[in-house]
Amino acid sequence: MSIVISGTGAFIPENRVSNEELAARVDTTDEWIRSHTGIGARRFAADGLVSSDLGAAAARVALERAGKKPEDVDLIVVATATPDYFAFPSTACIVQDKLGAANAAALDINAGCTGFIYALDVAGSMLAAPGRRTALVIGAETLSRIADWGDRATCVLFGDGAAAFVLERDDNAPGVAGGGSGLLFSWLRAKGSGAKSLYLSQPERTKTFERVGDCGKPPAIIMDGKSVYMFAVKAITDTIEALLAESGYALGDFKWIVPHQANLRIVQAAAKRFGIADEQIFMNIEEYANTSAASIPIAMNEMAEKGLLKKGDLVMAMGFGAGLTYGGAIIRW
Ligand code: UT7
Repeated sequence: MSIVISGTGAFIPENRVSNEELAARVDTTDEWIRSHTGIGARRFAADGLVSSDLGAAAARVALERAGKKPEDVDLIVVATATPDYFAFPSTACIVQDKLGAANAAALDINAGCTGFIYALDVAGSMLAAPGRRTALVIGAETLSRIADWGDRATCVLFGDGAAAFVLERDDNAPGVAGGGSGLLFSWLRAKGSGAKSLYLSQPERTKTFERVGDCGKPPAIIMDGKSVYMFAVKAITDTIEALLAESGYALGDFKWIVPHQANLRIVQAAAKRFGIADEQIFMNIEEYANTSAASIPIAMNEMAEKGLLKKGDLVMAMGFGAGLTYGGAIIRW
């Protein structure tokens, strides 16, 4: 039995904002953003759109490429840090309605920028149970809606976008031991002690009959960039070591390493430790910036569309972000 990826798709908003354009309203420069992060532009969703719109659009493309109808979907898992509603209902339920996926269960994953890696594991495990064959795993973000436009150290980093994978259980395919394709290994971790390094501001909810804190202020991203940077380099290092130990593969066995697209310098620092060549790492942060839970599937969908992923290629994808969370997955294309 294998959990295979039978289709991918993305929704990339048309509105492209370069660093120079952003510098017209934020006190920053193209030079600073490029040299500190590798970002050259980002996309912002059109007014009126929310994460479920982006996620549903990406899912429609992935379903069509997989040759599946919405009614074929048994499970929808949406990884997002920017749900349509904070808390409930889940964005996955709204996507389920927008797609008309009448037979699907639906749930969200809240694991920050590691969300898609967590979601693959959750969906893969749920598909292994009897009664489910097909899942949609979606990373969808509208981070422009929660950026603090007065904080230049964070607001320049993020962009909007979505991508989706169709996962299918194939009972006849050889599993991991038989060299089958699809999801092979997953390794997930959390470091909740770092929760306050990266979080969404909100009114306090510490009293029953009284609302305290600034209830009038819109929620916004608060990040201690330096501590997240240090965490991220170690998270990538730990994830690579754990996945290699678990799988028995060597780094040279991988055609591609696909990291969460947060900061080129973070990835380069981690890659240097392992002597990984630039050509083995896929980066598209220059064009899309950090799209949190959508960054890994957007990258892999782009690789698939460009023909960079060939059948049988081994891919290591890894994420790190709010929670703090981190982890990775090994996929055979
Ligand atoms: O996906 C979730 C995971 N998140 C991450 O991975 C982010 C991890 N952290 C980082 O990538 C980096 O910490 C940042 C890119 C966010 C910041 O880089 P940094 O080198 O740590 O910059 P800094 O915050 O220490 O700021 C250095 C200087 C400051 O000026 P002074 O005090 O030295 O004069 C800032 O005011 O850079 C200034 N600065 C800027 N200047 C122009 C900060 N942001 C900007 C900006 N444009 N956008």
